[in-house]
Amino acid sequence: MNIIVTGGAGFIGSNFVFHMLDKHPDYRIVCLDKLTYAGNLSTLKSVMDNPNFRFVKADICDRDAVFALFEEEKPDIVVNFAAESHVDRSIEDPGIFLKTNILGTQTLMDACRKYGIQRYHQVSTDEVYGDLPLDRPDLFFTEETPIHTSSPYSSSKAGADLLVLAYHRTFGLPVTISRCSNNYGPYHFPEKLIPLMIANALNDKPLPVYGKGENVRDWLYVEDHCKAIDLIIHNGKVGEVYNIGGHNEMANIDIVKIICKELNKPESLITYVADRKGHDMRYAIDPTKIHNELGWLPETKFADGIKKTIQWYLDNKDWWEEIISGEYQNYYDKMYSNR
Ligand code: NAD
Ligand code: DAU
Repeated sequence: MNIIVTGGAGFIGSNFVFHMLDKHPDYRIVCLDKLTYAGNLSTLKSVMDNPNFRFVKADICDRDAVFALFEEEKPDIVVNFAAESHVDRSIEDPGIFLKTNILGTQTLMDACRKYGIQRYHQVSTDEVYGDLPLDRPDLFFTEETPIHTSSPYSSSKAGADLLVLAYHRTFGLPVTISRCSNNYGPYHFPEKLIPLMIANALNDKPLPVYGKGENVRDWLYVEDHCKAIDLIIHNGKVGEVYNIGGHNEMANIDIVKIICKELNKPESLITYVADRKGHDMRYAIDPTKIHNELGWLPETKFADGIKKTIQWYLDNKDWWEEIISGEYQNYYDKMYSNR
């Protein structure tokens, strides 16, 4: 099996590359990544010399580069993780989100149509369903929940999902889509809540909590997400959408307090800052379909996963310190200095 994994130098994509090389030692994994600010080749250094792995630096919007790679590799499966993924950045500058997330998806699927494919898998997000109210804990996102987006990021992901389903219906492309809740774990870029709070706490810097910190996210350990995608590309039904999540809803403020406790840092570091525009209140996935059809269940409990994650950031300071010492500093000043 020859699999092209796009965005494999990012957070979830890299964890998926590691999972697939480990679980399927006879598969060839080709990682296509543009290496944007969020892509980091050092993340992949442990697999660079693996004879079953190849890294190609390219943009999924670059038709010539994508078609040339398909011509050369003739992949059986494509798993598309490549995306602009940070909601706050999409509020500052939506354009690149529309380009990469929608037009990049189109380019990949056009290549799949031309060269033939067993499966095109689109890695999507629960954010396409919008949000749920805090006072209705009985409500969850199912695959039937209408698309109802809030940010330029989620709108671009929803646009891509609609295009993927259209390519299935119109051209018969064998597609699947997964919509997962918030991931956490190793190699999570330190602009996102959990790694940002760990890095700031370790540097005794303020912990910027948006609004009142009451927004709820449904956290899943990244390895569980990777295992779910592995199941879907092998056993999922073509044309179907699968929600992925582990019923682990937590308010942001509680996550930040756990991080303070685990790192033995004072809660006085917590600073309430201006809320995110259009901030989604609550995400909560109903994973019944993937459980019933494919037997998937999350394996890592949050209490264990967050300890493992914090330990990873303690053991891999070089990885994230290099990131936060570079261009990231300008981003941080721009996004947080006037909040
Ligand atoms: P990330 O930002 O950490 O990584 C994105 C990767 O895509 C980077 O390596 C980047 O270099 C690459 N990339 C960006 N634009 C590209 C382009 N034009 N061509 C080729 N490569 C490009 O993102 P992540 O958090 O790992 O998310 C991966 C996917 O999973 C995204 O599609 C995201 O929407 C989805 N998702 C993320 C989460 C989450 O909690 N992080 C949850 C559900 C779904
Ligand atoms: O639900 C899946 C989505 O999860 C993915 O599709 C996105 O790619 C991924 O980035 C993530 O989106 P969120 O917006 O939920 O994640 P983020 O880590 O940016 O924020 C999590 C929550 O924490 C959110 O309610 C905003 C809040 N927050 C975030 C940051 C960066 C803060 O309070 N302070 C912060 O500094």
